Amino acid sequence: MKCRRCRQPAVIEVRRHNAGFCADCFVRHCREQVRRTLDDYEMIGPGDRVLVAVSGGKDSLALWDILLDLDVRADGLYLGLGIEGYSDSSATCARAFATGRSARLVEVDLPRDFGYDIPTGARTARRAPCSACGLSKRHLFNRAAVDGGYDVVATGHNLDDEAAVLFGNVLRWASDYLGRQLPVLPASDGFVRKVKPLVRLGERETAAYCVLRGIDYIVEECPMAAGNKHLGYKEALNAIEDQSPGTKSAFYFGFLDRVSAMFTPAARAEREGLRACAHCGAPTTGEVCAFCKLVDRAARTGD
Ligand code: AMP
Ligand code: FES
Ligand code: ZN
Repeated sequence: MKCRRCRQPAVIEVRRHNAGFCADCFVRHCREQVRRTLDDYEMIGPGDRVLVAVSGGKDSLALWDILLDLDVRADGLYLGLGIEGYSDSSATCARAFATGRSARLVEVDLPRDFGYDIPTGARTARRAPCSACGLSKRHLFNRAAVDGGYDVVATGHNLDDEAAVLFGNVLRWASDYLGRQLPVLPASDGFVRKVKPLVRLGERETAAYCVLRGIDYIVEECPMAAGNKHLGYKEALNAIEDQSPGTKSAFYFGFLDRVSAMFTPAARAEREGLRACAHCGAPTTGEVCAFCKLVDRAARTGD
């Protein structure tokens, strides 16, 4: 197979584009896909300061690398989750990348700064680990951005992630989630803008990008995620994609183009009805936000 652009021998095939690429053209292709996503969804304005949430995995490091190459003012944010045998190596990858590119990495550490780790937090809150983790991440990404004066938080969610989440939400017709599942969520009272610039790239592509760019990333998945529903949805979609390449992207972008608007008004109304948490000031539906409740419960059981 030859490279679609330069006709040199291809090193990677992207079946959904029915194309192969040589190493240089593939890197350029990834950059262009991100550039196009940033433009199409007006993700980052001129002069915006961006905080990229970096886990040390392939997606977020590829994202940070591409944003820097596109001359976006992008610092990194690493959140230490206190997961044994996983968090240490993920921090090492995030730090090594930051040093290599002379980029700034902001670090927040759950055990050090908030007195709990994900396994303990999940147990005391009687939540699944991924739920306690997702809640902590959403809250702390936004808080770090507000505190640091950033305009935007960017995460490394890719096409496989977004299609799998969409699939799960459609199977249950979770209309509240469907209204929020957009590649860009505008800023609103207490929230900075949130963007997902990798929605046009699959995880095989972000992995290949990192390998070709010599970026060292943590290959292991989080041990707490094993067997969760999300992975099951990914496998199901992969089986379909295998049979007919392009289905995943048609499913996700078809939703964005033709369906999502039906669900956004309700989600927007919900966001506008929020008030400030009595403890930390973050937007919430109740008196105290879910994050503060989690920290409080973890502290009380820890005594
Ligand atoms: P996940 O929730 O693990 O699928 O990760 C989705 C995105 O959240 C990643 O691409 C990162 O942008 C961000 N992320 C996940 N874990 C961390 C972490 N420990 N620190 C900072 N960002 C993270
Ligand atoms: Fe959050 Fe694993 S990364 S539970
Ligand atoms: Zn709070």
